[in-house]
Amino acid sequence: MAIIKVRNSGNVVEGHEEVSNFLENQGVLYEHWDMDKLPGHLKEKFSLSDEEKNEILATYKNEIEELAERRGYKAWDVVALSDETPNLEELLKKFEQVHTHTEDEVRAITAGHGIFIVKGNEETGYFDIELEPGDVISVPEGNPHFFTLMEDRQVVAVRLFIETEGWVAHPYQESVSK
Ligand SMILES: [Fe+2]
Repeated sequence: MAIIKVRNSGNVVEGHEEVSNFLENQGVLYEHWDMDKLPGHLKEKFSLSDEEKNEILATYKNEIEELAERRGYKAWDVVALSDETPNLEELLKKFEQVHTHTEDEVRAITAGHGIFIVKGNEETGYFDIELEPGDVISVPEGNPHFFTLMEDRQVVAVRLFIETEGWVAHPYQESVSK
């Protein structure tokens, strides 16, 4: 389950209900997919063939289609990042700049970990959402955020889009310590 760390206060939010309530108040969708369904050979694999990516999408076909229908997403794919990814450092530097998108940023983690750093309301300020396999989040359209990896430096995630062009990052002029 995801863990939230609020940067200003140092508060930590844990537990499915607490995390769900916190994120709901901030307008961030948070759901969970059953990771027991994922075939064993895909649980710890971070360099994926097209066949393996399709196998992940086929495993969660119902979850993806239900979420897409409910929220208007029209396309999906699988992204994998690890030390085997060429230019990982360069990619992470790009990701670690605060930005916005013209549509939701939707990610369902199927292996590894990732952190979304999201700008919350005035009282809360920026908070980290530490994600593990099964966690599904949607950062709302126009909401400043950035993404980075955790200590394991590897992640596999399903991404859902309204239009693939919607994922273009628009810089948000505010610096946040990494
Ligand atoms: Fe983003």
